[in-house]
Amino acid sequence: WLSRPLSVWRYRELLPVKREPVSLCEGGTPLYHLKRIGEELGMKELYAKHEGMNPSGSFKDRGMTVGVSMALQLGMSSVACASTGNTSASLAVYGAKAGIPTIVLLPAGKVALGKVAQALMHGARVISINGNFDRALEMVRDLCESKGIYLLNSINPYRLEGQKTIGFEVIDQLDGKVPDRMVLPVGNAGNISAVYKGILELKALGFVDKMPMMTGIQAAGSQPVVRAINEGLAEVIPDENPETVATAIRIGAPVNAEKVLTAIRGSGGTAASVTDEEILSMQCDLARKEGIGVEPASAASVAGVKKLVESGVIDRDEQVVCVVTGHLLKDPETVIKQCAPPIECEATLESLLAALQL
Ligand code: F0G
Repeated sequence: WLSRPLSVWRYRELLPVKREPVSLCEGGTPLYHLKRIGEELGMKELYAKHEGMNPSGSFKDRGMTVGVSMALQLGMSSVACASTGNTSASLAVYGAKAGIPTIVLLPAGKVALGKVAQALMHGARVISINGNFDRALEMVRDLCESKGIYLLNSINPYRLEGQKTIGFEVIDQLDGKVPDRMVLPVGNAGNISAVYKGILELKALGFVDKMPMMTGIQAAGSQPVVRAINEGLAEVIPDENPETVATAIRIGAPVNAEKVLTAIRGSGGTAASVTDEEILSMQCDLARKEGIGVEPASAASVAGVKKLVESGVIDRDEQVVCVVTGHLLKDPETVIKQCAPPIECEATLESLLAALQL
């Protein structure tokens, strides 16, 4: 298997799919060394795993290639999910590839434009719910139960099996070494739990001998997991009205609450929140200092590292891998609001020089 290319299916023996997978070449995403941002923080080994480089532009594709393959393996004929956007885009893509009907439920007015565009274009039936993500998830669970539709939210364990390959790839890309810490944005808390489970499996198989400190970052307006960790609670108490510019992680009642507490506590990790301003400022730094375009939720992981380094929680000598989860183009509206508009110019060289002040 060492000769197989880096991808989700490189690790197929550790995945549950026994049939030809529904695949569009997911995984195999780049691990970038954040030289400039790292230097500014006094860190030599700060990396970003760019999951925005997957087929639909987010890490969800790792879960969906496995989840939709399992739907077919189990003889299911239609699939559904609730989503803050990326899950719906990915399910629409993989439902199209599998040739099965797809239903997605979205919180009205709270999904980034690129994600809605993807769900619509790939042929999902898109339902906009007058309520938040947490309510949409309750509704789709009832729908799937009553109509025998296959549910592909991160409650579905097979989806998380696909997502655990993020951890496998990072270790392969670091030549077999486990990083000291992995930092992920947390919404429904599926991804951080999946990565933890995957590396735990590698350890049980004797491939690695330590766990990375799993570190979860949430937005200040939507941080039930951070509160549970910081206050040492036995369970996560939901946020009734989550709010953040990072709409992907605008989730008050994470369904993988129990798993994320195990992942963070079991690995000696931590959790922290970042403000919308810190998120947007890091999105801009990643774009301009590193050439890496990500959506706001993804920038939360790196913004979290900055905060935790500055407050002394993360040691500057640690090798840290941030997972940046979705592509910049997912949410063009937030970008346009942040940046100055293009400079208007007549179609002459003179006007161009004037516009450029050259
Ligand atoms: N980053 C992005 C870009 C996401 O879309 C999500 C989740 C997360 C991080 C958090 O991952 O839920 O596993 O903790 N998006 C889901 C969706 C909820 O519907 O697209 P998580």
